[in-house]
Amino acid sequence: MKGIVLAGGNGTRLQPLTFVGSKQLVPVYDKPMIYYPLSILMFTGVREVLIITRPGELALFRGLLGDGRQLGMTIDYAVQDEPRGVADAFLVGAEHILGDDCALILGDNLFHGADLPALLRRSAQRLDGCVLFGHHVADPERYGVAEVDGQGRLRSIEEKPAHPRSHLAIPGLYFFDDDVVDIAKGVTPSARGELEITDVLRGYLERDRAELVWLGRGVTWLDTGTHESLLDAGHFVRDVQRRQGVRIGCVEEIAMYMNFISADECHLLGEAMSTSPYGQYLMERARAHTADHWPPTSLEEA
Ligand code: DAU
Repeated sequence: MKGIVLAGGNGTRLQPLTFVGSKQLVPVYDKPMIYYPLSILMFTGVREVLIITRPGELALFRGLLGDGRQLGMTIDYAVQDEPRGVADAFLVGAEHILGDDCALILGDNLFHGADLPALLRRSAQRLDGCVLFGHHVADPERYGVAEVDGQGRLRSIEEKPAHPRSHLAIPGLYFFDDDVVDIAKGVTPSARGELEITDVLRGYLERDRAELVWLGRGVTWLDTGTHESLLDAGHFVRDVQRRQGVRIGCVEEIAMYMNFISADECHLLGEAMSTSPYGQYLMERARAHTADHWPPTSLEEA
């Protein structure tokens, strides 16, 4: 499975923070925002990732993540010249997908939960058409909204409905088979002028090839699109990390757990930042990973 992180858009709601930089590089507590969605693709087992940015920002992302080799991955970059909508990711990224399954994650979506890595891998493995996720929220009108029947089968999908049929929001993480490029090509701009991801999902639903996987209460899903939600996300990350002593969205550590890189390589990445608590943490986790250690430094713990 290939991965795409959609990290373009104008970030107008975060101005002036986004005047000279990308929204997805703004810090969420101790790391750039893009680390969080990237870590979700890594947990899914994805090693080949395309990052889509707005013009002029590609070099910033490349400066941060390079070609991905240090994480045992391949990271490529593409430019979306205008924010034509989330579904445009499949047109910009068509060559990257090339007949493979694809996971798309929005660069401002943050997920956390102990069972999440296993759930993601299971969902990716049994992919037949597309998988979207559902999460109960208080304010569904701000999101794509799914309606399901008593057996959990999808009934309808709507983008930001004024009168939502359920509280089941569709977070910005989706798995697709290789039909996605053709389906996306058939999507036309919505009333707000965007190629909507919900139209792509509906294309699969109409073919009876869309599965909704419920993200239960054990999963936290945050978006970071406003100053308020950005600060909330930062507090969330700080609180969990401070209490538990483990880090969320720590891509080097996850690369080690996923066996993309060895513990020694993870240690070296930590050494390169050894004056920061982040670097020291990496070195410590790498040492614990190789040592006989209880509790185990396992993937599900991350
Ligand atoms: O966060 C989940 C929601 O994301 C879903 O529930 C909705 O169905 C989906 O349409 C999307 O809604 P938003 O209106 O919140 O998306 P937004 O325009 O904020 O864009 C999401 C991210 O994608 C953001 O980081 C910017 C990036 N983006 C967006 C567009 C429209 C691009 O890179 N290019 C684009 O053309």
